[in-house]
Amino acid sequence: MRILVTGGAGFIGSNFVHHLVRHTDASVTVLDKLTYAASRESLAGLPEDRVELVVGDIVDAGLVEPLVAQHDAVVHYAAESHNDNSLNDPSPFIQTNLIGTFTLLEAVRKAGVRFHHVSTDEVYGDLPLVDDTADDPKRFTEETPYQPSSPYSASKAGSDHLVRAWVRSFGVQATISNCSNNYGPWQHIEKFIPRQITEVLDGRRPKLYGSGENVRDWIHTEDHSSAVLRILEQGRIGETYLIGADGEKSNLEVVRMILRLMGRAEDDFEHVTDRAGHDLRYAIDSGKLRTELGWSPEYGDFEAGLAQTVAWYRDNEAWWRPNKDATEASYAAKGQ
Ligand code: NAD
Ligand code: DAU
Repeated sequence: MRILVTGGAGFIGSNFVHHLVRHTDASVTVLDKLTYAASRESLAGLPEDRVELVVGDIVDAGLVEPLVAQHDAVVHYAAESHNDNSLNDPSPFIQTNLIGTFTLLEAVRKAGVRFHHVSTDEVYGDLPLVDDTADDPKRFTEETPYQPSSPYSASKAGSDHLVRAWVRSFGVQATISNCSNNYGPWQHIEKFIPRQITEVLDGRRPKLYGSGENVRDWIHTEDHSSAVLRILEQGRIGETYLIGADGEKSNLEVVRMILRLMGRAEDDFEHVTDRAGHDLRYAIDSGKLRTELGWSPEYGDFEAGLAQTVAWYRDNEAWWRPNKDATEASYAAKGQ
């Protein structure tokens, strides 16, 4: 198998490339524009005879079409991925997430290549908080109607619709997965968990948007990768699979856990300006993936996975340090 991984130098895509090398015989091409979110270091140490990096833009049909035609499958991670950035400037989100996905779909259509589209649970909008009396709280399923809130999630929702239309109208051999919030090594420090860990490492206080009651459903990026590989190998064409590991936690709980793991008082955080349109709660019912394809996550214990992640950022300061000041300056300008 020759597999083209778009966005394979990003947080989740690079984990998938390592996963492919460890668990398959595939040869892998990474197509990545190397935006601010990418990191060549995340691909270091991979065998040169199995993994090649092509630096380029998924919007560039002249590059994408011949490249796609040389592969048996495309796994599409490349995206602008941060909600806060999409509120500052939606334009790159429309370009990469919509036009980029369109460009790839046209390429796989012409070449008859298998396509897997990596998407997010945010396409479903948000859910109410769970009150203690609810014995069966609502979660997202593959049947939940689309209701995206931010420019980021709207652009991902649009890209999902394109994939479905290309399956139905042109017979493209595609599957879609919608995953919940990932954590683990190599995540850009603009994101919630690495931002708070590196704030604490720098002797500052974690920064909670609004009240901190918002809930995210955390999954280790390694579990996301194993789920995507399972869908690529065994998923039914045209189907969507939700990926999640039953990891619901409020932001407040996560910040307290980080502080505790790092030896600081649990209330040593501050509240900052809330995100506009901030989604309240995400929660995934991954029953279809588990029942139909027999997948299950390996990182059942979120606190243990978080402790490993804290240790990784502590040990890899040289990687994140160059981005820290600019990231914090941009948040400070918005009161966050
Ligand atoms: P990331 O921002 O860390 O990485 C994105 C990668 O895509 C970067 O390497 C970047 O250089 C590359 N890229 C961006 N624009 C490109 C372009 N035009 N052409 C080629 N490459 C380009 O993102 P991530 O968190 O690793 O997310 C990867 C995918 O997974 C995205 O599609 C995202 O929507 C989806 N997803 C993310 C999460 C999460 O929690 N982070 C959860 C569910 C789904
Ligand atoms: O659900 C999947 C999505 O998860 C992915 O599609 C996105 O690509 C990914 O970025 C993530 O989106 P979120 O917006 O949920 O993640 P983020 O890390 O930006 O924020 C997580 C929560 O933490 C959210 O409720 C906002 C809050 N937050 C974030 C930051 C950066 C804070 O309270 N303080 C912060 O400093």
